[in-house]
Amino acid sequence: MTAESMDKLVALCKRRGFIFQSNEIYGGLQGLYDYGPLGVELKNNLKRSWWNSMVYERDDIEGIDSSILTNPLVLKHSGHEETFSDPLVDCKSCKSRIRADHIKENKCPECGSEDLTDPRPFNLMFKTNVGPVEDGSSFAYLRPETAQQIFTNFKNVLDSTPHHLPFGIAQTGKAFRNEITPRNFIFRVREFEQMELEFFVKPGEDEKWHKVWTDLRMDWWEKQGIDKKNLELLEVPKDELAHYSKATVDIMYKYPHGLEELEGIANRTDFDLGSHSRGQSDLGLTAKVDKNTDSNAKLAVQDPDTKDWIVPYVIEPSAGVERGFLAILNEAFKVEELEGGKERTVLSLKPHLSPIKAAVIPLKRNNEDLVQKAKELKNTLQSKGLGRVLLENSGNIGKSYRRHDEIGTPMCITIDFESLEDGTATIRDRDTMEQKRLDISSISEYFKEIIDN
Ligand code: GAP
Repeated sequence: MTAESMDKLVALCKRRGFIFQSNEIYGGLQGLYDYGPLGVELKNNLKRSWWNSMVYERDDIEGIDSSILTNPLVLKHSGHEETFSDPLVDCKSCKSRIRADHIKENKCPECGSEDLTDPRPFNLMFKTNVGPVEDGSSFAYLRPETAQQIFTNFKNVLDSTPHHLPFGIAQTGKAFRNEITPRNFIFRVREFEQMELEFFVKPGEDEKWHKVWTDLRMDWWEKQGIDKKNLELLEVPKDELAHYSKATVDIMYKYPHGLEELEGIANRTDFDLGSHSRGQSDLGLTAKVDKNTDSNAKLAVQDPDTKDWIVPYVIEPSAGVERGFLAILNEAFKVEELEGGKERTVLSLKPHLSPIKAAVIPLKRNNEDLVQKAKELKNTLQSKGLGRVLLENSGNIGKSYRRHDEIGTPMCITIDFESLEDGTATIRDRDTMEQKRLDISSISEYFKEIIDN
């Protein structure tokens, strides 16, 4: 995998309507991207697959959807105000600002100059004003991770649901970081989405659960179409751990630009619940937290047997939607040689992630009977609730097949004159390109089988 394969992916994303540069007509805004008609489908499918596996397929996890604007006190006590920064270096020659760990051989990556400042911390959180007065007295942060509002809602969720330890709270949504050097397409951006689970466990059981979640998350990525040979686990060195973490394992993926983090699975101990709690001295916290908290909450659970208060430890699998999107596209993207020296581009996406689940194509675009029959089948398949089905009335079967191979549609269904006579249609499989005729009445079942699998 090379930078060239990244260029091909970027070109495909623009050409077919997966991803566009944000604010493009005004020259763009660095580190931001927009998702087009196919991109939004793939992104939603990825988030849905995560939600299914976390919330619907388990009985010990609840979901929430919290606000993005965050009271600064939350991020003061979480430690983000003090520590959520990257080391920033200025190039005195070309005035570029560079993340210190992106500098090689002490040279500015933009102009090659060695006239650089010493690194200094640069906080990555975005601030905005809340309310009509802009005197700096009423600001909020755009959340830098979705996790914090899970912690602040811990008691609300616990009190409104029947759970005991271990249990989890899941959330997907936007996070914002003023990255010094956004780069590598959607890999490092300033506005992105996270899929985060905070799984609360008894202290002492944390290391066992850390391992359990690491294995589960590796299996989940494989089910999204990522070959395990392109994934690696990295135990984050102690001196590189985030301020809240006792241990973190990163799931690394072989991106076109190199081996990089796809998801992090952290053991956040009792740091966050403890930081946001009142009366830590009676709670026997192990994490070093600021005891002068402004919160009146007691984010703890009572042991049903001993009645002692416990601040749960938390295991946090935290994945980036954009990084998942990029890894999945990269895995699925293939250029195949065909007979006669031709080639085809195909996205072999898992059907549950495909933006378009099936394309129904009338053989002739101006033939009302064919178009009507195709519309009926499209509507039937659409009503199954398995995702978007398209009526592709381009009048050019070859071109339609090529387009749908390239955007990863698992099947194309052609309605021809035989269909009008005997009620059958041709189904073409994206991966094998094999075609077979099926009774139209049995296509719904066939469709369900392919997409559900
Ligand atoms: N709550 C823990 C947390 O936020 P993190 O390792 O900073 O941990 C978790 O971020 C995941 O969010 C990363 O593994 C990555 O997938 C994604 N992510 C972080 N920063 C990102 C960025 N600037 N652009 C795209 N994705 C990002």
